[in-house]
Amino acid sequence: MINVGLLGAGRIGKVHALAIGAHPGSRLGAVSDVVAGNAEQLAAEHGCVARKSEEIIADPSIDAILIATSTDTHSDLIEAGIAAGKSVFCEKPVDLDLKRAKACLQVTANKSDSIMIGFNRRFDQSFAEVKRAADAGEIGQRELLSITSFDPAPPPLDYIKVSGGLFRDMMIHDLDMVHFIMGDLPESISATGTSIVNPEIGAAGDVDTAVATLRFSDGRLAVIKNSRRSVYGYDQRLELLGSEGLLQVNNVTENQVVKSSKEGITGSKPTYFFLERYMPAYETEWAAFVDAVANNTAVPVTLNDGVAALAMAEAAAKSASEGVPVTLADVL
Ligand SMILES: NC(=O)c1ccc[n+]([C@@H]2O[C@H](COP(=O)([O-])OP(=O)(O)OC[C@H]3O[C@@H](n4cnc5c(N)ncnc54)[C@H](O)[C@@H]3O)[C@@H](O)[C@H]2O)c1
Repeated sequence: MINVGLLGAGRIGKVHALAIGAHPGSRLGAVSDVVAGNAEQLAAEHGCVARKSEEIIADPSIDAILIATSTDTHSDLIEAGIAAGKSVFCEKPVDLDLKRAKACLQVTANKSDSIMIGFNRRFDQSFAEVKRAADAGEIGQRELLSITSFDPAPPPLDYIKVSGGLFRDMMIHDLDMVHFIMGDLPESISATGTSIVNPEIGAAGDVDTAVATLRFSDGRLAVIKNSRRSVYGYDQRLELLGSEGLLQVNNVTENQVVKSSKEGITGSKPTYFFLERYMPAYETEWAAFVDAVANNTAVPVTLNDGVAALAMAEAAAKSASEGVPVTLADVL
């Protein structure tokens, strides 16, 4: 049984607390948060104690830490956890700053395979099946990957301001999916963004709607479309065109009923947001981490993968601000 310390009791911390508690091989030992009351409330809900992050990291009875704090704290906490001999699971992105993330990779170099980064979409049953089928050659050569990823509504401006911006905070999931499904990193990225959902997001220096095209050295392509607003729910679709066929993932909807009438044919909306859409993926992701810790094997999504995704996000952000394609090797 792995005793886990959860750092950060916000939106995603609460999701992870559920996954830790639901797994027979892990238990939630302690929770921290810098905002008074947050950790106490979550700890009370899960029958564990609220403590400071430093106390949890220093506690020899804690085997693993799960970092679900604000992004600007991730590298520091990863390094502190590794220095204290813990297994580490850290939410994406590794950091706001690519240089800081690369320094974290250097400091923890011989432990990179034991630091897991929370790219939960790799564990979604449908996306994982696309990867399996593509790797098995079932649609021939992978040629064009298209990802649609729209959030139902923007997060609060206070979150936007500390998030690192759409490319590092939101598109990073899709950039990692490109890496995962195409099995390779792109050579160059072109991106453009705008703030048409909420001008205040633009005033805060961010965008809320963006498109990126990624080009691989052998000519393969990928396209990502992002928006912080889709009034019909969380839109998460993917399409992979290969030389021998097509793999498609459509939205998970609230129910499977299709009503046909004189007015037309209607069905239900996609599920509302990440908790509803990806809870099974968070559980599978956590199970993969517990397996790796219990068997002392490499985690399936490493710190290296996290740094690669952040480099792609950095390239996309640079391309959007400068209006030219950016070669990944120039930022990595
Ligand atoms: N994988 C996913 O699907 C997913 C979804 C949402 C968020 N995230 C990531 O998770 C992280 C947190 O996002 P969120 O939406 O939960 O944000 P949030 O603001 O709701 O929660 C973050 C919490 O961390 C606390 N905190 C900050 N510094 C701390 C520290 N040093 N020690 C302890 N607590 C600290 C804050 O007080 C806050 O309660 C971000 O990096 C975000 O990118 C991932």
